[in-house]
Amino acid sequence: MTGSFYSSRLARPGAVLAPMAGYSDAPMRQLAAEHGALWTVSEMISARGLVGGGDTEKLNLGRPYAGELGRVVQLFGADPDVLAAAVARAEAWFSPAAIDLNMGCPVPKIRGKGGACLLQTPEVAYTLIHAMRGATGLDVSAKIRLGWDHDRSVEVAQGLAAAGAALITVHGRTSAQRYTGQADWDAIARVAASVDVPVVGSGDITSAQIARERQRCGVAAVMIGRGAVGNPWIFTALAGGDDAWPDVTTRARTALRHAELQEAFYDDDTGRLTLRPLRKVLPAYLPDVPEVRDALVQVVTVEDVRRALDPLLDLPTGHGGGTASTARVTAGYAGQQR
Ligand SMILES: Cc1cc2nc3c(=O)[nH]c(=O)nc-3n(C[C@H](O)[C@H](O)[C@H](O)COP(=O)(O)O)c2cc1C
Repeated sequence: MTGSFYSSRLARPGAVLAPMAGYSDAPMRQLAAEHGALWTVSEMISARGLVGGGDTEKLNLGRPYAGELGRVVQLFGADPDVLAAAVARAEAWFSPAAIDLNMGCPVPKIRGKGGACLLQTPEVAYTLIHAMRGATGLDVSAKIRLGWDHDRSVEVAQGLAAAGAALITVHGRTSAQRYTGQADWDAIARVAASVDVPVVGSGDITSAQIARERQRCGVAAVMIGRGAVGNPWIFTALAGGDDAWPDVTTRARTALRHAELQEAFYDDDTGRLTLRPLRKVLPAYLPDVPEVRDALVQVVTVEDVRRALDPLLDLPTGHGGGTASTARVTAGYAGQQR
């Protein structure tokens, strides 16, 4: 769908999977989408890498899983010509539903190349959005923090909307704060009230209940990052399902499926590399079964995952299920894994 992706998705209830480098890869996105996420966002991809940087359509960061729909590709960069070319390439190679500009990454290596440093020179960001818009008929959006070291989010969001951003996501912290303190949802609400385009709020949502409270501040939708690690059911709850935390068997089977999707997507001949990134993810599915943790943080193959989870895969139905409050604890646990 051209140019109306966000408005059509926002017509239904649900929450958005956040872009998370090292996490929101194709397997995590697939599980989130299957559980009802409104849309998902790729890990950030260097615009320069796509344009003459040696990347190809096989780039794992951009490549969709078979049949993937509703996935936004996020780019970072600081040069309008490079971003325009990268948008065209991303559209041709990766079949995105929309393109997002990263204006929030505080990692030092990105400074001077885009990310949150654009919050110091927002007029550059406006030219980027303008150039990106000129390169595609898809929706172009931006994801910001509140500011570099102080809140100037209303001003920046208004400038981005005037430049043609179809949607703005706000992570309620400054770049200087990184991930410390609490996301400021009053500031997110002020942005939502100050622009005509939809605003998505991001920061510290670890349960469906908290999501619903945050939703009331006037945002079009909420985005969930760390709280969705090992917990795709948070999307089911917000898409209109119930808040119940699934039983241990369901969670173990989903963890195993995550490993199978991982192996299939990365298709590493040796099978030895692809499971390693999941060592930090798999225990988050089962925080209430600490006895499987040691095995899960050492997995090398899908068979290792199956063996580690074997005692849990066929327990009687209902074992270890829970309520939304249990799920909150789980998600808090997931958030501590990094
Ligand atoms: C490990 C990690 C990687 C992230 N990578 C990105 C990224 O690539 N692009 C981006 O815009 N935000 C990124 N973020 C920020 C998240 O999208 C989100 O705004 C932030 O984590 C707050 O939401 P949460 O509390 O639900 O995690 C990342 C966050 C984490 C924890």
